[in-house]
Amino acid sequence: MSNPTPARLVVLVSGSGTNLQALIDAADDPSYGARVVAVGADRDDIEGLVRAERAGIPTFVKKVGQFTSREHWDRAMAETVAGFEPDLLVLAGFMKLVGGEFQSRFGGRIVNTHPALSPSFPGMHGPAEALAYGVKVTGCTLFVVDEGVDTGPIVAQEPVRVEDADTVESLHERIKVVERAMLVDSVGRMVREGFTIDGRRVRFGT
Ligand code: GRF
Repeated sequence: MSNPTPARLVVLVSGSGTNLQALIDAADDPSYGARVVAVGADRDDIEGLVRAERAGIPTFVKKVGQFTSREHWDRAMAETVAGFEPDLLVLAGFMKLVGGEFQSRFGGRIVNTHPALSPSFPGMHGPAEALAYGVKVTGCTLFVVDEGVDTGPIVAQEPVRVEDADTVESLHERIKVVERAMLVDSVGRMVREGFTIDGRRVRFGT
């Protein structure tokens, strides 16, 4: 059977972009079934954008401060993303909430990765809050973005043990190793097998 046209991924980043890199590397193999067609960011001078440029992937940056309101930023960002005709929009370490314009254009086709086991420790400080709480197991979650903060239907989760000697940094780095593999595996399955969202339950396959 010939390979179908690879699915189009647009990835949004705010930082080092190691999750983005994992997707770029996976997509080198045509059997992966997807390629990264554009990378967007809410700030410049970040490693994530450098990674995209190195791979020859178009980039765009829109900072909230360049717009008169958050809604205008949301609309402009969504409009630019739409121009790349994504099949799936991947938020990979993107530190902004996307709003209504994203939901109406791409609802059900936006995934985000979070460095904690949802519904525990939503928000920006998952690893720090897990460590402070004293949990012995934390991990990472891939979910379909809804209106909430890290509340959407869960696509995949992977556990990571908390070690006695962990700092926030060491814990987050270990989570990120597992998170990258989870992201690559799940996004690949989503584009190759399709997926359904039934209430809170996400299943691969159609
Ligand atoms: C990831 O752990 C992501 O879940 C969190 O920030 C990290 C981003 O890492 N929100 P990177 O930019 O992909 O290296």
